[in-house]
Amino acid sequence: MEGIVAMFFMLGISLSHLVTGNAQAYFDVGKFGAVGDGKTDDSPVLGKILAPSADERGRFKSVGCWLCFQRVDGLIVDGPGQIDGNGATWWTKVPISERPTALHFDLCSDLTLHGLTHLNSQRNHISIYNCSGVAISDLHIIAPSDSPNTDGINIALSTTLVISNTFIGTGDDCIAISGGTSNINITQVTCGPGHGISIGSLGGDGITQNVDQVHVTGCTFNQTMNGARIKTIPGGTGFARDISFEGITLIASGNPILIDQHYCNGRDHYCQDQEKAITVSDVTFSGFRGTSAAVEAINLDCSKQGCRGITVNNVNISSSVGKDLRVVCNNAYGTSASTVPVVSCLLS
Ligand SMILES: *[C@@H]1O[C@H](CO)[C@@H](O)[C@H](O)[C@H]1NC(C)=O
Ligand SMILES: *[C@@H]1O[C@H](CO)[C@@H](O)[C@H](O)[C@H]1NC(C)=O
Ligand SMILES: *[C@@H]1O[C@H](CO)[C@@H](O)[C@H](O)[C@H]1NC(C)=O
Ligand SMILES: *[C@@H]1O[C@H](CO)[C@@H](O)[C@H](O)[C@H]1NC(C)=O
Repeated sequence: MEGIVAMFFMLGISLSHLVTGNAQAYFDVGKFGAVGDGKTDDSPVLGKILAPSADERGRFKSVGCWLCFQRVDGLIVDGPGQIDGNGATWWTKVPISERPTALHFDLCSDLTLHGLTHLNSQRNHISIYNCSGVAISDLHIIAPSDSPNTDGINIALSTTLVISNTFIGTGDDCIAISGGTSNINITQVTCGPGHGISIGSLGGDGITQNVDQVHVTGCTFNQTMNGARIKTIPGGTGFARDISFEGITLIASGNPILIDQHYCNGRDHYCQDQEKAITVSDVTFSGFRGTSAAVEAINLDCSKQGCRGITVNNVNISSSVGKDLRVVCNNAYGTSASTVPVVSCLLS
């Protein structure tokens, strides 16, 4: 590969433990003494990374990210170390459209993120966009529960990605999986405080979006607003299929099991059924244990076109606040066995 293929915006920061993988990467950290030849471990050059304060917002406006990587193959971003977005100075002063994602990867392949702590991003902590072959493990992603729009990990237009052994407590989406993604495995991730792991929202403004082969296993939702969620907006086309959530521990989770095909996103007309809808099929929820903070522990709210191949098995959820739990289905087709509460509303 030719030329400079990575851009690293050095905005008065020092970079902790950044190791380049193959020889294709070049980083603008040379002036700090980094070599970036793909052989030398540049991590000693760099210390904790701290983002500039919101006074520097103008520098990020056009790029949308603070630390941005584009077209890098074989990049390894390894810990230990901290990436601190200094978000508190941004959250109150700067509108969301002008706050950057802290760490953004675009068109990267064979990317490894391991062992770092990500704190207080200005907006989302990590976004993976148009990438393939991504391994994310042993991260700690932390921001206050009331910090705005500070998603943990966002994935879009990407294939073949694994997230494992990671803690995400940021107050917003733990992991959000958007359109154009497939072959995503998420295992041993603990979420909370925040919104849980969600697929979508898909299909806003009538667009076509697809997600398939997403498997979430051995994860914990600790006091999250939602647990395992698929959300689509009426009027879109495409599919969300071959999705499973298995072996999930719930600690006073809101909406532990939720398919929402009437997701409004703050716009009322989005909630109304339309002639078109994203097709949701082959979705399994299995091995859920623990407590729900919401009365509707299981809510399978499909479009009028219906969701097919829904399986709910081996579930034992009780209320964290001593209430009777409810199960709600709307146009959901599938089967269920061994569940508390009992799921008797699936259509065959
Ligand atoms: C994704 O990357 C491919 C090149 O691999 C490019 O052709 C395509 O336009 C990119 N898609 C988006 C939405 O950026
Ligand atoms: C995800 O897990 C499935 C089932 O174990 C496996 O077939 C698939 O290759 C895995 N995908 C990735 C990206 O590791
Ligand atoms: C759940 O979150 C609470 C509050 O943050 C924390 O004290 C507790 O240790 C967490 N439990 C588990 C099992 O992670
Ligand atoms: C469900 O879990 C509760 C609390 O752990 C337990 O008391 C109960 O026996 C379990 N029910 C089933 C059917 O496994």
